[in-house]
Amino acid sequence: MTDLLSINQVAQTLGVHPITVRRYLREGKLYGIKVGGNIRIQKKSLNAFFKPLTENKKLLNYKDLLLQGKKKIGIWGTGYIGFSTMAHFASNGIYTLGYDTDQTRVSSINNGEVYIQGMAFWLGFSTKPLVDSGHMKATTDWKKLASDDVLVHFICIPTEKNGVPWWEPLNDVIKKLANLKQIKNSHPPLVIVESTLTPGTTDKIIIPLFKKNGLIIGKDLLLGVAPRRDWFVDREHSLKELDRVFGAVDEKSAQASEEVLSIVCKKLHRASSYKTAEMVKSIENAYRQMEITLANQLSLAFPNVDMKEVLRLVGTKWNIGTYQPSFGTGGYCIPLSSKYVLEGALHPKHLTLLKETIETDTKMPQIVAVTLAEKCKSVAVLGLSYKGNIKVPNLSPAITIVKQLQNKGIKVRIFDPYFEKDEIKKIVGAETFIFPDGLLEFEGIAVICDHHEFTTAHVHNVLQKLENCKIILDNVGIWKDLELGKNGVLYKIPGQEGWLS
Ligand SMILES: NC(=O)c1ccc[n+]([C@@H]2O[C@H](COP(=O)([O-])OP(=O)(O)OC[C@H]3O[C@@H](n4cnc5c(N)ncnc54)[C@H](O)[C@@H]3O)[C@@H](O)[C@H]2O)c1
Repeated sequence: MTDLLSINQVAQTLGVHPITVRRYLREGKLYGIKVGGNIRIQKKSLNAFFKPLTENKKLLNYKDLLLQGKKKIGIWGTGYIGFSTMAHFASNGIYTLGYDTDQTRVSSINNGEVYIQGMAFWLGFSTKPLVDSGHMKATTDWKKLASDDVLVHFICIPTEKNGVPWWEPLNDVIKKLANLKQIKNSHPPLVIVESTLTPGTTDKIIIPLFKKNGLIIGKDLLLGVAPRRDWFVDREHSLKELDRVFGAVDEKSAQASEEVLSIVCKKLHRASSYKTAEMVKSIENAYRQMEITLANQLSLAFPNVDMKEVLRLVGTKWNIGTYQPSFGTGGYCIPLSSKYVLEGALHPKHLTLLKETIETDTKMPQIVAVTLAEKCKSVAVLGLSYKGNIKVPNLSPAITIVKQLQNKGIKVRIFDPYFEKDEIKKIVGAETFIFPDGLLEFEGIAVICDHHEFTTAHVHNVLQKLENCKIILDNVGIWKDLELGKNGVLYKIPGQEGWLS
């Protein structure tokens, strides 16, 4: 029995966290047996496992240095992207240190809280033990990241504001990263940009800024670009499961990026260069915006047809995706993608499809507002976020719908459980109302997104009592099974016959 060790004993012997030992077990690097319901590891297998690593230190690569706890990852910006990067690496036994200018966010991380609503669900694991074990820490002192124990830096700051590219945070972070030059290390630090970049940003902004600050890329630091494409809605589309594209400025940077990203991401696709990886992000989103917009154009062109059904059946063809009409796209990525591609193109005049896409997509919420204004004098808008169960109002169709209705003299109120009254007023310039009972007083309802709070039994009861309501436009079909039409209400989901008439 003395030859068998517990997970904690192995962790202590190897100087790693028990989480890392569990991962070694999963990966088959260590072999465990069950003794009386507990996992025990043979001392022998442990020696064999560590021999090559301790014998030849020169062979340690970026991945090994992180996995053995010799180096940390620094994360610049701890919002949706940065927080999830920290959590995923920490859950693989890597020490992470997040920097943010927002003191509240930093304190909340260090208290083991998850301040982003829905994040705990998407991650599918608790981050509190990772904070308690020191694998997740945050700071407002950026100098703690510009130190020799932080080998890898992820840039996760915003790159868009009010619908246009915004480089202020990126400039700020790169200036701070310039301090890495002071650090003498056997391995140059690796910087991986996760934020969305418009095509050409690495060449026009990132590389010149590093150069201006005295850093030679390839010597003083390695640089990779690995845009995120997560869908913070379900666990199947997580950082771990989603295909991940990355590219780098040279072979050394590409190899190091691959080693580091492979700790978390199962499916990596190496692009031939950072330029390609950068462009993939905008083009994949432009495709999506164009296909969603074609669905909308079809529903406008055939108002007397159930285009929703047609497109569902079209999508059964093996090589066609299913795209549905809607109030238009929202969020920081999709609505801006076609614009980004046009701005980065050498010959934008050829991209007529994308120009049309932007025009129609921008018009959709205006058309929805016109339909509502023609039928009612008061409208309740449900949801400020562009998508359910998150707090992201950026370019949400709700904003245009509210403003257009206000311009037409319609009484409009908006409710979103993720936003305080004052936040709603500041973002969209409208008052809120008491939800769900307040719904009874409106002649029209526009549902923007599918927050869980919109589908409770109490909400369903209130909806059965609607008397003044003439029209409900339900962007996401959350109430499609409630037979609301039987109360004399015109209940429509985008794409259904007559949804905009
Ligand atoms: N959220 C998504 O679904 C998603 C998906 C793919 C890509 N992206 C891209 O990822 C990037 C980050 O997006 P996000 O959703 O995480 O944003 P976010 O607003 O949730 O978080 C950004 C964080 O950066 C911090 N920050 C701002 N300026 C800073 C600075 N100068 N130094 C340090 N911290 C700073 C903010 O305080 C905030 O905590 C953007 O480029 C976005 O387009 C986001």
